[in-house]
Amino acid sequence: MKKDFLAVSDFSAKEIKEVFKLTSDMKKGKLKSQPLKNKAVACIFHKPSLRTRISFEVGIQQLGGSSYYITRDEFKLGKKDDPEKREWFYDGAKVLSRMVDLIVIRTYEHSGVEELTKYSDIPVINALTDLYHPCQILGDIFTIWEKRKKIENISIAYLGDGNNVCNSWLDAASIIPLDLRIGTSAETFPDKGVLKRAKESKISKVNLTDNPISAVKDADVLYTDVWASMGQESLYEKKVSLLRKFQINTELIRHAKKDCLVMHCLPAHRGEEITDQAMDGKNSVVFDQAENRLHIQKGIILKLMRGFKREK
Ligand code: CP
Ligand code: NVA
Repeated sequence: MKKDFLAVSDFSAKEIKEVFKLTSDMKKGKLKSQPLKNKAVACIFHKPSLRTRISFEVGIQQLGGSSYYITRDEFKLGKKDDPEKREWFYDGAKVLSRMVDLIVIRTYEHSGVEELTKYSDIPVINALTDLYHPCQILGDIFTIWEKRKKIENISIAYLGDGNNVCNSWLDAASIIPLDLRIGTSAETFPDKGVLKRAKESKISKVNLTDNPISAVKDADVLYTDVWASMGQESLYEKKVSLLRKFQINTELIRHAKKDCLVMHCLPAHRGEEITDQAMDGKNSVVFDQAENRLHIQKGIILKLMRGFKREK
């Protein structure tokens, strides 16, 4: 298995099932040992975070380990000759590899995190980049699996911006059979490379449409995210005008299955991509989803740590 978890597809479908089993056992309180006892985790955050940061920090503590919050002031990605750097991140990665057992990082450039995995002698977990948000989507698939007792061929309508969360759904669709419909505008498409890989894998049905009603028709899951992601604040007005018709609201939910699950990774901009009624309505599972971030982080950490042997 891979050392790092930067994308959902870094786990095989079989490994994902194993993560779900671990997660479910821990959620039920079946794990009595403290597998991270005497282990330390560096949690590097270059963007704000409530759910991801706290679920990692609390999860690490529950597993018996300790976490250390690191900001851009202490650890920055970037070129060797960047004048604003404190040190080249190669050196920082080598130092962290000797002091801690795992790195969790949330930042902007995905390529920087890929480079970090090469310099680190310990596993790295992607806690969100501009390209992917894999821990989120693994937690969301776990939530669907808990609610529906299956995941294969579930119809998921993702509505809104073709961002990191949308890309991670596509990435998941390249290893797990899904019926993935993406309702978005031509100008807010997901990453072309990720979309191509998802389609070429032929594992899932993948369809993009600019018609929100056809995207959600008889769907099992309606999913959305903010229209302007962290770092894209200057695009906010443009995205709002492009994506307004993809709002999840009571009227749109009527076109999906009666018992559909309404999901949002949060934070939500209520009244924009989702209405209060949709978010607080009977189909909504947004807070179960948020809680499961805690459980899945522990499953991901445990799976990676069990599969990793430090080279002497
Ligand atoms: N869903 C999510 O990742 O939330 P945070 O940005 O608060 O971590
Ligand atoms: N797409 C959002 C997700 C936040 C959890 C962002 O990147 O800001």
